[in-house]
Amino acid sequence: MIILRKKIIAGNWKMNKLPNEAISFFEELAPMVKNTENEVIICAPFTDLFYTLLSAQNTNIKIGAQNMHWEEKGAYTGEVSPQMLKAIGVEYVIIGHSERREYFAETDETVNKKLKAAHEVGLKPIICIGETLEQRENGETIQILEKQIKFGLEGLTGEQIRNTIIAYEPIWAIGTGKTATKEDANETIKSIRKEIANMYGNDNAENVEILYGGSVKSSNSKDLFTMSDIDGGLVGGASLDAEEFSKIVNYN
Ligand code: PGA
Repeated sequence: MIILRKKIIAGNWKMNKLPNEAISFFEELAPMVKNTENEVIICAPFTDLFYTLLSAQNTNIKIGAQNMHWEEKGAYTGEVSPQMLKAIGVEYVIIGHSERREYFAETDETVNKKLKAAHEVGLKPIICIGETLEQRENGETIQILEKQIKFGLEGLTGEQIRNTIIAYEPIWAIGTGKTATKEDANETIKSIRKEIANMYGNDNAENVEILYGGSVKSSNSKDLFTMSDIDGGLVGGASLDAEEFSKIVNYN
């Protein structure tokens, strides 16, 4: 079996940065990450996408959005379609982040529709899954993840699943400063890969990049990203500072 997984470091700015702040961030970041072999992605708010795309020209930094609708167009006030993102040059899109599931009523069903819509236009989705603290304490982590994978990721072709990035983000670790131990994160990601293998076969599962997210910073990135099954990270708070983010990207 040929395994072609690479390391991916994706920043998730969430609802942060005005265009001028985004532009200065790129001026600072680009020279600091230009020699990395890791994939570098910044997922910016819609209003920053155009500016970040211009700033990322002639650099190795790729641009992602943080959400989208699954329909191509129509009467969906306030929404943005996959085609719109694709048309301006966006390459990635985060789907089903826990904050969207919690505050904006996203479900495994809407995640699945968005995932398929992203693949249809050739956007690479970054699908977020993860358990709450309560679910973890009740010993339900694996069960919850299996459900999110089964319903959120069903119905793809082998090629589509290999072009899907999964981010395992335990909700209790997001923005809290608490990180899963590297062993724990690695074991959980192995179970996620096993579930993908059940649905899509071993070859595909071994080629899906699965990231860890939740309080990743430069002081823990190397420990996490050098584990056997952790293919990089989805980084929130620590992606807002160019120097800190560059250290995470250059962990190796
Ligand atoms: P955090 O967020 O790094 O600030 O914990 C990660 C995320 O929500 O993607």
